[in-house]
Amino acid sequence: MKIGVVGLGHVGLVTAACFAHVGHDVIGADVDGEKIEKLRLGSTPFFEPGLEELVSEGSSSGALRFTTSIEETVKAADVLFICVGTPSKASGEADLLQVERLAADIGRCLSTHSEYKVLVEKSTVPVKTGEKILTTVRRRAAGDCDVVSNPEFLREGSAIRDTLNPDRIVIGASSERAVEVLKEVYRPTLEKTGCPIVVTDVSTAELIKHSSNAFLATKISFINSVAEICEATGADVETVAVGMGLDPRIGSQFLKAGVGYGGSCFPKDVAAFASLAGKLGRPFHMLEAVQEMNERGPARLLDKLRNELWHLEGKRIAALGLAFKPGTDDLRDAPALKVISQLLAEGAEVVAYDPVAMSEAKQLLPDVQMADGPITAANDADAALFLTEWQEFAEVDLSELKQAMRFPIVVDGRNLFSLNEMREAGFTYLSVGRPAVRA
Ligand code: UGA
Repeated sequence: MKIGVVGLGHVGLVTAACFAHVGHDVIGADVDGEKIEKLRLGSTPFFEPGLEELVSEGSSSGALRFTTSIEETVKAADVLFICVGTPSKASGEADLLQVERLAADIGRCLSTHSEYKVLVEKSTVPVKTGEKILTTVRRRAAGDCDVVSNPEFLREGSAIRDTLNPDRIVIGASSERAVEVLKEVYRPTLEKTGCPIVVTDVSTAELIKHSSNAFLATKISFINSVAEICEATGADVETVAVGMGLDPRIGSQFLKAGVGYGGSCFPKDVAAFASLAGKLGRPFHMLEAVQEMNERGPARLLDKLRNELWHLEGKRIAALGLAFKPGTDDLRDAPALKVISQLLAEGAEVVAYDPVAMSEAKQLLPDVQMADGPITAANDADAALFLTEWQEFAEVDLSELKQAMRFPIVVDGRNLFSLNEMREAGFTYLSVGRPAVRA
C-alpha cells in the first residue's frame, strides 16, 4: 500500500521504517529539513537499536523515501499516519497545535486530490481529537476521507521489535471502509504474528492508549510507594514484587521499584489524561497521586545521599546513567537530569557517564564533566549514584569501582545489584525499597 507518515520523531520514523520493511511503499515527511537531509544520507536523528539498518534497507530498496513536503506526501499516499508531537502545556493538558496545523494542511492538499484517503492518528492524543481532526480536514477538503485512531504501543529501546511483533493492534474507526484499509496496512504483520486485533470506534481507541499508559505508570508509582513502606519497615520490595507478580491477575511486569518513570510518554500522558478528566468534570485523583509519587523519586534518592555525606557542597559525585531508561539516548524527563540539577544547585561536583546519551547530555548539562566509562566517572568520588539500569553497569567490576572511589558509597536508583554482592564487595549500599547495607 502507499503510506505517508508525517512527523518523523521516535514513533513516526520507526513506524515508517517498519511499514517499508513489511512491503509497503512509504513516504516519510517532516518540517525539519536538516533531519530529512540526514535521513536521506542514511543516518537516523536519534539512537534506536536496529533503526539505522531498517532505514537504509528501505532507502536502498526504494520502499522508503523522505520529504519536507506535505503536499507531495498527501498526493503519494492512500493512508496518512499523523505522528507529530503532542507536548504538554504548563497545565498538563496536551498541546495539539501541531496536530491541528497538520490537519489543516492535509485538508488544503485534499482540496485538489479527490481520491479517498484515510488519516490515521498515531500520536497519543486525548479522546475526541479524532472528531476535531475530521472537522478541520473536511472544512477544507473536497475529497472523501475518514479519520482512524490506531495508537502505537512501542517502547523506546525495543521499538522495532514492538512494532513488528505487537501485543495487539487497535483500530478505532467510524466506517467499515476505513477499517478494511487499516486491516490491509497490517495484513503482513497479522499474517506473520497472528496478534489480536481490536476494532472499535475512534473515541474508544483513543482512550485505550491513554488508559494503557496511565495504568502502567500507576503500577510503577504503586510499587514505588510500597518501596517507601519497605524502607520504613525493613522489608524487601524486590521480593514483594516477585510475590505479587506471580498472581497472573497482577503480572510481574512494571513492578520494578526505582527513582521513577521518565521519557516522552508517561509523564506527558498521565498529566494529559488527568487534565482531560478534570475538564470533563470527572477528576481522576488517582493519577494525581501517581504523578506526585513519581516527582518524589529523585528527592528520595538525594535524601539517602545527604544522610550519608551530610552536606553535598564540595562533594564529588559520580552520576552513572543519564537516559530515562536503557537502550535509548532519550533524556526527556529523565530522572537523572532532576537529580543532577539538584546536586549542582547544592554545590556538588558531578562527573557523569552514560553509554549512549552523552553527546545530547553535554548540551543540557554544561557544568557536568563527562567521563569515558563508569570507573573513570567514579574516580575519587565521595559517592556514586546509579540512575539508569544499563547492562554495562550491572557488569561493572565492583572491586575496581571500590578502589577508584574516595569512599565506597553507592546510592542505587535502579536496584542493579544484590545486597549480598554489595556487602561482600565492601560497599555502603543504599537502594530502593531494600534494607541498607553498611560497610
Ligand atoms: C511507554 C510504554 O511502555 C509504551 O507501551 C508506549 O507505547 C510508549 O510509552 C508511548 O506512549 O509511546 P517508553 O516510554 O518507551 O514506553 O518506556 P517504558 O519502557 O514504558 O519505561 C517508561 C519509564 O518507566 C522508564 O523511565 C522506566 O525506567 C520506568 N519503569 C518502567 C520503572 O521505573 N519501573 C518499571 O517496572 C518499568
